[in-house]
Amino acid sequence: MRKILIPLTRNPISLAGSALMLISAILFVSLMLIELLGAEGNPYIGIVTYLILPAGGLLGFILVFWGIRRERRLAPQAAFPVIDLNLDTTRRRLMILVLGVTVGAVILTAAMSQGVHVMESTSFCGETCHSVMSPEYIAYQRSPHARVACVECHVGSGTSWFVRSKLSGAWQLVSTAFDLYDRPIPTPIHHLRPSEGTCEECHWPEKFYGVRPKMITRFSDDEANSETKTILLLKVGGDDFGGTQGIHWHMDPNVEIRYRSDVKRRTMYEVELKEGDEPVQRFVKQNTREENPELMDWRVMDCIDCHNRPTHVYYSAEQAVDLALERGFIARDLPYVRREGLKAVRAEYASHEEAELGIVAAIDSFYRAEYPGRASSRADDIQEAGRVLGRLYANNVFPSMKIEWDTYPDFSGHYNSLGCNRCHAGDHATEDGDVIDSDCSICHTIVAWDEASPQILELIPK
Ligand code: HEC
Ligand code: HEC
Ligand code: HEC
Ligand code: HEC
Ligand code: HEC
Repeated sequence: MRKILIPLTRNPISLAGSALMLISAILFVSLMLIELLGAEGNPYIGIVTYLILPAGGLLGFILVFWGIRRERRLAPQAAFPVIDLNLDTTRRRLMILVLGVTVGAVILTAAMSQGVHVMESTSFCGETCHSVMSPEYIAYQRSPHARVACVECHVGSGTSWFVRSKLSGAWQLVSTAFDLYDRPIPTPIHHLRPSEGTCEECHWPEKFYGVRPKMITRFSDDEANSETKTILLLKVGGDDFGGTQGIHWHMDPNVEIRYRSDVKRRTMYEVELKEGDEPVQRFVKQNTREENPELMDWRVMDCIDCHNRPTHVYYSAEQAVDLALERGFIARDLPYVRREGLKAVRAEYASHEEAELGIVAAIDSFYRAEYPGRASSRADDIQEAGRVLGRLYANNVFPSMKIEWDTYPDFSGHYNSLGCNRCHAGDHATEDGDVIDSDCSICHTIVAWDEASPQILELIPK
């Protein structure tokens, strides 16, 4: 035992290394035990246990050997020990060394694999770099994919995408530490893996969805905040006995659509359609004002070109306020509450705290000035409306990341953004004059459009 302890502690470098190894090992084991006993961890504990402590242990190990080597070089001895396996003591020491290294390697491997697991966890991606990722994390939590781990869409399976993600992750750590990142974070479409390796692990293009009715409730800016309904039959489509139809026709295995656009994919300058063995059709955007725009490379259209916000759902101001009115979080009988609410949430604020105070104050002062009677008789509802509006702001606008209303538009329709109309506005034509269809009825049947009481609803028993 002494033979081992002496070289480990005789010189200061090895001593420091041994101490580091010992401390890392003790902390590692105790933190792991705490976790095994079921304590709720926060994301930092995982990082410390499975990434920092093993790294500390490894560093300690290197220090010990570096110290011993350095000592031998300074002392008038041979630089390397003479190993004579005929000696009992040498054999015993070698055995101990091999055993120690093996145990260390096993622990290290286990820790590393757990470390990777930690790095793949949603809390690591979403919570560790608080201010940077908090908008995407908040927007994610209210989406249908809130239980899908970030890596399922951003990495997927397979070694090459894993390595790619770790390389870009390393750069992200550096850019976060030195504050080099863009605000807002640009959408990663050009680096994002094609949906074949991500979305299509759970959904598949040949699934048939048929026609999906959709009712949208909107409110107006008048005193009564009048409610209207729009009812659509969306021809979502999909594979119907071997031939895809409707909106998901784009995803038919026989169809390939490619496009060249600007960086933000807002203007589609050229669109190419290849369907089966038919000749490629090339549609060019007519009457563009921009001369020689900067184009991205060709991109094959996939799920993400329409479902660009499957999980980072940012509402527009109108959508957010209308939803809150529809669900009764804001009392809809407060006069002009929609108009004033929109005005308040669209104003500029430096931070969430400032916005939440400012919005409550703005709503309050409107009613005091215009409806003094209501201001006192409905004081609670007015306060609550202000608080809800403040929360809507805080969930969708992030001044610290320069994310405003509509920074990240949703392309899956054409209400808040150009969406489908980037190609379907009737201004993409081939040389022969064929135009990409813009007939309203290819995508939906409009049953009611902004109607106060659509007739069809009367047919449905209450
Ligand atoms: C259901 C799939 C999916 C999941 C799960 C997912 N993302 Fe995304 N994410 C996307 C898509 C798609 C885009 C890019 C859309 C585009 O290019 O327009 C994106 C974009 C982003 C962006 C760029 C900014 C933006 O909003 O465009 C960040 C940052 C991001 N995701 C972080 C995360 C984090 C952190 C998590 C986990 C908390 C996560 N993502 C989970 C699909 C997903
Ligand atoms: C790990 C599995 C998984 C992955 C990966 C995944 N999804 Fe989903 N997705 C689901 C599940 C489960 C639902 C249904 C959620 C629900 O209804 O609560 C869903 C729902 C949806 C919906 C319907 C949403 C709605 O409002 O009803 C769309 C659209 C969608 N996913 C698109 C995508 C796209 C695009 C991607 C890739 C960027 C993707 N999904 C990746 C599992 C997944
Ligand atoms: C051309 C645009 C477009 C493409 C490409 C596209 N989708 Fe869709 N998808 C839509 C629209 C529009 C809807 C209806 C949205 C709604 O209900 O509000 C929809 C609906 C869905 C739904 C919900 C269906 C339902 O009945 O609830 C799922 C799931 C979905 N898409 C998955 C995918 C997947 C996976 C891909 C890629 C293989 C894909 N979509 C490609 C436009 C598209
Ligand atoms: C990148 C360009 C592009 C975008 C974006 C796009 N489409 Fe298309 N779409 C096409 C092309 C090209 C065709 C085939 C030409 C035609 O039918 O006129 C097509 C055809 C269609 C068809 C007819 C399919 C059939 O059965 O023939 C529907 C329906 C459709 N698109 C719906 C949508 C919807 C809904 C959106 C938005 C969520 C959308 N498209 C976004 C390019 C696009
Ligand atoms: C290329 C497909 C396509 C074409 C063409 C199209 N729409 Fe739509 N439209 C959609 C989709 C997809 C939605 C999204 C529904 C949703 O999920 O909110 C939508 C939504 C709407 C809505 C509801 C908006 C809201 O949220 O209040 C109205 C109204 C509407 N469309 C009218 C029209 C009219 C009128 C035309 C013809 C001039 C037209 N659309 C052409 C695909 C299309």
